Amino acid sequence: MKFSTKAVITAENPNLSGETSSDVISPIHLSSTFAKADFESTTGGHGYSRLTNPTREVIENKLAALENAKYAICYASGQAAECVTLLSFLKSGDEILCFDDIYGGTRRLLSKVFDSFDINVRYIDMTIIENVESAITSKTKAIWLESPTNPLLQICDIKAICGIAKKHNILSIVDNTFATPFLQKPLDLGASIVVHSMTKYINGHSDSIAGAVVLNDDELYERLRFVSNSTGMVLSPFDSYLNARGLKTLQIRMEKHCDNALKIAQFLESHNKIKKVIYPGLSSHPQHKLAKEQMNGLFGGVVSVYLDADDKQMEIFAKNLDIFILAESLGGVESLFGCPYYMSHGSVDESIKEQLNITKNLLRLSIGIENIDDLIEALKSALNKI
Ligand SMILES: Cc1ncc(COP(=O)(O)O)c(C=O)c1O
Repeated sequence: MKFSTKAVITAENPNLSGETSSDVISPIHLSSTFAKADFESTTGGHGYSRLTNPTREVIENKLAALENAKYAICYASGQAAECVTLLSFLKSGDEILCFDDIYGGTRRLLSKVFDSFDINVRYIDMTIIENVESAITSKTKAIWLESPTNPLLQICDIKAICGIAKKHNILSIVDNTFATPFLQKPLDLGASIVVHSMTKYINGHSDSIAGAVVLNDDELYERLRFVSNSTGMVLSPFDSYLNARGLKTLQIRMEKHCDNALKIAQFLESHNKIKKVIYPGLSSHPQHKLAKEQMNGLFGGVVSVYLDADDKQMEIFAKNLDIFILAESLGGVESLFGCPYYMSHGSVDESIKEQLNITKNLLRLSIGIENIDDLIEALKSALNKI
């Protein structure tokens, strides 16, 4: 089956026995607990919803099918998914190698929470593949990466990096939030674990906070299930339902997000109030060729842009930009924009922001699925005001 068919039909099993209603859409199972016929067995495979729940199982099975994976486990947020992943294999004294340009919240979790447990994190530029192998030490337990990164949309060679991890017998963890399984499937490229903020494109409608871990390894899966049950950060039935519903339309949404984003990147690149546009679909992007090979011929729905504007002019632009909403997050059907310096990367130290070039005139645009002419008109009009 092809991607969009799998997205729609996986885990939807209308019951034709006549014993219960034959819902075409999997219902929302709110029950926290499930009746047992005897002390030892579970009837229908579920015992208590912290461990497993039938509605959560629907989104887990759909996501696993779309990532070509054996297993997925869904959590109450992308951060919870990251946290459980880390707790499942780290021991005090271990070290993680991390792409230096990652989501600010991931950096905060690694450097300002896990540091208390004597976990050392080293940040490196993974666009240069030699940096990865030379940074590995006997203490390195995992390599953590995003591609495209948040917010600078850098691309790294997932297959090559996962190959290096395998050679050194360490885990490779890929945050696939920005690309989604429609654009790239990191497990097929050799990754040990994929993590998602489903809050973004998987759900796609900005009405649920959710996360997931996806993997193939049986032993790691058992450990993750154990840690998930022990920590309890799992996804609620209602959010599971919303994410399963959203996931069904992932392909058509992604096609539109990517198409709109490319047109907007091309428009902005030719505008005189713009200093620089970052979009993997532009031939000016340093890893354009790699992105083309790695991302199913599409380049994502996020465009980052440095305006030729001072603080005051940035404010004027923000106040005058119609349709786009100034808000955290990305990946919903509506276009949003944000300033990573103050928002997604607000918790990152000033010196690191300076080093990464996350400046006050950098905006991250999450391009929605609205009409492209309306979006370009809105940007043109706000740029003219500065
Ligand atoms: C790439 C990436 N990973 C993880 C997260 C965290 O996800 P959540 O907000 O669902 O906890 C985000 C949130 O913006 C993100 O952009």
